Formats: sequence, C-alpha cells, structure tokens
Amino acid sequence: MYDLKQRERIATPSLDARLLSISLDTGSDLPLYRQLHQSVRGAILEGRLRPGSRLPSTRVLATELEVSRNTVLLAYQQLEAEGYLEGRVGAGTWVASNLAVRRRAAREGDRSPRGACDLPVSRRCRALVDVPQPIAALTDGGLAFAPSMPALDEFPWRTWTRLAKRHAANQRHVLRSGLDPAGYRPLREAIATYLGAARGVNCSADQIVIVHGAQQGLDLVARTLLEPGDAVCIEDPGYPGARGAFLAAGANLVGVPVDADGLDVGLLDRLAADPRVIYVSPSHQFPLGMTLSSPRRHSLLRWASRHSAWIVEDDYDSEFRYSGQPPTALCGLDADGRVIYIGTFSKTLLPTLRSGYLVLPEALIEPFLRARVHADLFPPLLEQLMLADFIVEGHLARHVHRMRKLYRQRRDCLLAESRAPLAGLLELVPDETGLRLVGWLPRETDDRVAARAAGSTTRTGVELRGKRRGRDPPRRSPTG
Ligand SMILES: Cc1ncc(COP(=O)(O)O)c(C=O)c1O
Repeated sequence: MYDLKQRERIATPSLDARLLSISLDTGSDLPLYRQLHQSVRGAILEGRLRPGSRLPSTRVLATELEVSRNTVLLAYQQLEAEGYLEGRVGAGTWVASNLAVRRRAAREGDRSPRGACDLPVSRRCRALVDVPQPIAALTDGGLAFAPSMPALDEFPWRTWTRLAKRHAANQRHVLRSGLDPAGYRPLREAIATYLGAARGVNCSADQIVIVHGAQQGLDLVARTLLEPGDAVCIEDPGYPGARGAFLAAGANLVGVPVDADGLDVGLLDRLAADPRVIYVSPSHQFPLGMTLSSPRRHSLLRWASRHSAWIVEDDYDSEFRYSGQPPTALCGLDADGRVIYIGTFSKTLLPTLRSGYLVLPEALIEPFLRARVHADLFPPLLEQLMLADFIVEGHLARHVHRMRKLYRQRRDCLLAESRAPLAGLLELVPDETGLRLVGWLPRETDDRVAARAAGSTTRTGVELRGKRRGRDPPRRSPTG
C-alpha cells in the first residue's frame, strides 16, 4: 500500500492527499496502469478527490510509486478519455470540474455508461464516454434556466387525458388491421399534411417513419447508412445527441465550423473528402442559434449531390419562430433525394413523449424499415392514436400558437430583466427561434470557473454549458 500522504510535501499541495491512497500490486495479473486507473477513478467516484482538484504530475507520481512514467501517463490518458480528468496546458492534470452528475449516478448503482468502462464493451461504446448525455438536460430538471425545456405546466393535460381514455380500450380494433413498422398510418398522414403547410416539405405518408424522438431517428440513420470508419460531417459546435449516435455506429466525426450563416459549406472540400453523412440543424443551429442562409442551403445540396453524401436535417424547434416564417426546410428544396428530415414532438409537446418522425427519400424507405424492425419492431400504438387525434382535431396547432406567444414573452422578459444585472458578466444574444438563449462570457473568463461559481452560488444551481474560453460570437466573425 502506498499512501499518497507521504507525497504531499513533494508535489501538489492542492491535492487532498489525506483522502487518497493508492495500492499497486506488482504480483497481480492486472497491469499497473489499470490498477492506478482504478484507484484514482475510485477516489473520484467516492468523492475523496473532488472536481477541480489537482493531481500530481506524471513524473512526480511515477517516482513516488516507483513505476515508469508511462504507467502513470497511460492511467491519466484513460481517465482523461473517460472524462474523469482534464489537462490544462502548462498547468497539469485536474479532476474534471463537471463530475457531480456522474458521481451521483455512480452512487446510485453505477448505471451510467462510465460504470461499464472496465468491462469488455465495444470500442464504439467506449467512444461514448466522452459525449455529454442528451438526457442530462431532462434529468437535471429543477435547475434554473434549463435550456430547451418546454413549459410543462402549460401542456393541455386535460385534452391529453381525454384522448388517453378514448384510445386505451380502442387499441384492439387497430391491432386487427395490422401493425406497421413505419407507424400508425393516420398519424403519418397528419404529419405529412402538417409538414406541407408549415415547413414546405412535400412528402407522402409513405416517406414518414414514426420514431422515439429525434434521438432514435439519428440512431436509425447511423445504423442504416454508415460503415465503421465512415466520415460524418457535423457542425462544430454541435448537438451531442448527434455526435453520440454517429460515434456509436463507429463513424469518424469531422467537425465543420459554423459562422453567422450556419455551417461553413465552403470548408467541406478541405475538411472531408467523401463524407457519407452531413448532419445540420439549419433552421436553428444547435447550440449557437443561427439560420443556415439560403445560398448556403443551395450550395450544401449541390455539394452533397456531387459527393453522393446524405444530408441529415435536424429540425427540432423551428415551430417556435418569433418573427417571420421559418425558412423552407432543406428537405423541401431537395430535388435529388439526398435529405433525411428529422422532426420531433419533444419541443412542441413533451420531451417525455419520446415521439418524433423521419421523412425519408423514397430510395431509403425499405432499408430503414428493415433496420427499424430489428431495433424495436414498431412504435408504441397508444401514444400514436392519441397524437393522431391531437393533430387532426387542431390541438397541436393551437398549443404551438399559444406557446409561441408565451415563449416570446418569456424571452423578452429574460433579456430585459437580465441586461443590468449581467452587464459585463454575460452578453445574452437575442434569438428569434427556440427555447434557449446563448450568452457569451467576456473573452478573459474561463467558462468552467463561471459554471462552477454559478452552480455553487445560486440556491437551485444553474446549468451552464460552455466549450471554449473567451471566444467571439460567430456573428462578429467574418462570414464565409
Ligand atoms: C439539436 C436537437 N435535436 C433534437 C432534439 C430532440 O431530441 P428528441 O426528439 O430525441 O427529444 C434536441 C433536444 O434538445 C436538440 O437539441
């Protein structure tokens, strides 16, 4: 047993060494770096090493443990890849500052994917440890300013309950007419009609597949279209749910920067020779909020046709456009059958409904349905029956109309009321679409420090997501 207490004098005074002990057994079959990895990981999960604590340098720890520096390097690298540690250039290695949620999950029985990392899971599953889980935004409910969350208290619960009663016993009649892996036909017809009117998408019910939210749509796209190692272009910064789905299929992700006009299509030639898929959120870029400009839309479609790439259009919240009309969906401009459109009811209705849809080019209908059947057979029937009536009877249109007004008021109120208190701390950017606002920290502010401070100084905590330090908003950058 090697007690790090002895080492405290030599190296990192900020490490709470009294709480950390490392035992390395040279007689064990488990390589030394794995033993070290497990000791440090255990200390983090048990809370003995707190987020933000500094670890000894690899050189110091190697000397004290009497192992090679490579052993320590390998252990640190694995912990870093798993998201437990982060390195700061010239400053050393630290326990990642955003570990609170993961530690809680570990205490509750280690149900997080991180718990599985010591098991012989696939490389594709391991690749996911670093990707933020899209579900965190839902399970962290109660945090102030949780982004992208619809107003649950405004949902028409009474109508929804009436529809549930109407259909709960009725399902057996529909069962007799057979189940369709694409989903309940009247619901698909209602969606096709809605998309034609609202999004300029001219499609038939045959092209629509009902899925468990956009996330299952992304997973189906990835499993149906990709070979391991295929290049997939995604927006940078972009939606972690898309990153996760493509990584889980073994894709090789290529980040394409966005600017004030959205995805910088002009960079595609340089960044990716022949991507199989290009993922975009053109109506409202996630997370920065710009709209893909009309010239970019046309050049993206041309580029995809030239390179035989599929475009995945994630149209997750364009219903909440506060001025003017949302631009016609890419799918509505696509003459070549290159665009797979993904829509969701997570923002218009409820994220817990887990209901969304794909609009597929004709050529992809059959392969997608084959893949779908082997994933989950077909979508649950009851919710589809309810949703079909909800749309056909006009409740969806009414609810979206009411929420658009409410969200605009809330946005205006937040912008007005926060201007003075946030002056010099955070510059909130007005956004014409959606359920979140982007705020820019001053150039010299470290987003991780700000996130820690916000989380610990407010009563409920504030969810802050940041990526890089002191970056200029793209609207100020030269446009391409
Ligand atoms: C960019 C993006 N796409 C899709 C979704 C919706 O995903 P789902 O329909 O799986 O809830 C979200 C949710 O926040 C999102 O931010």
